[in-house]
Amino acid sequence: MTVLNINKTFSESLEELHELCREHGQTKPTVLVLKYGHGGHNTLHQDLYGEIFFPMQLVIFLNEADEDYHGGEFVLVQQIPRAQSKAIVLKPKKGDILLFTTNFRPAKGSRGYYRVKMKHGVSEVHSGERYTLGIIFHDAQS
Ligand SMILES: [Fe+2]
Repeated sequence: MTVLNINKTFSESLEELHELCREHGQTKPTVLVLKYGHGGHNTLHQDLYGEIFFPMQLVIFLNEADEDYHGGEFVLVQQIPRAQSKAIVLKPKKGDILLFTTNFRPAKGSRGYYRVKMKHGVSEVHSGERYTLGIIFHDAQS
C-alpha cells in the first residue's frame, strides 16, 4: 500500500510490520483498553511511538455514550497550514469502530491535494465510566 506523498509502502502482513518495528527498536505492544472515569480525558495527541508508524488506527467503543457515561466525546482536530484548527467531535455508539488517521489526511486545495495533520483526544467524562479498545498496528519504542 502506498501512502499519500510519503513514498512509504507497507506490507499487507501485520507480522512484517512488527518485524520492521523491531528493526527500529519498537518492541512494545500498543493495543490497550482505555478506561476514563469522572474527570478523565485525553489531551490532543498522535500515537506515533517511533520512526515506524502505520497510517491508520482504530478504536472500538465498548459501552454506551449517554447511558453508561456522559461527556467523553472522541475529538479529532485537523491542523490546516496557515489557518485555524478545526475540531470534529464524535459520539459513537457501543460496538462502533472508528478508523482514523494516525498522522495526517489528504485535503484538496486549489493546487491539488495537501496534507492536513490530525490529532485526537477525548473530552472530559462528566459521569460514569467510558471504555474503549484502542488498536494501533505499530509497536512502540522500549
Ligand atoms: Fe491515542
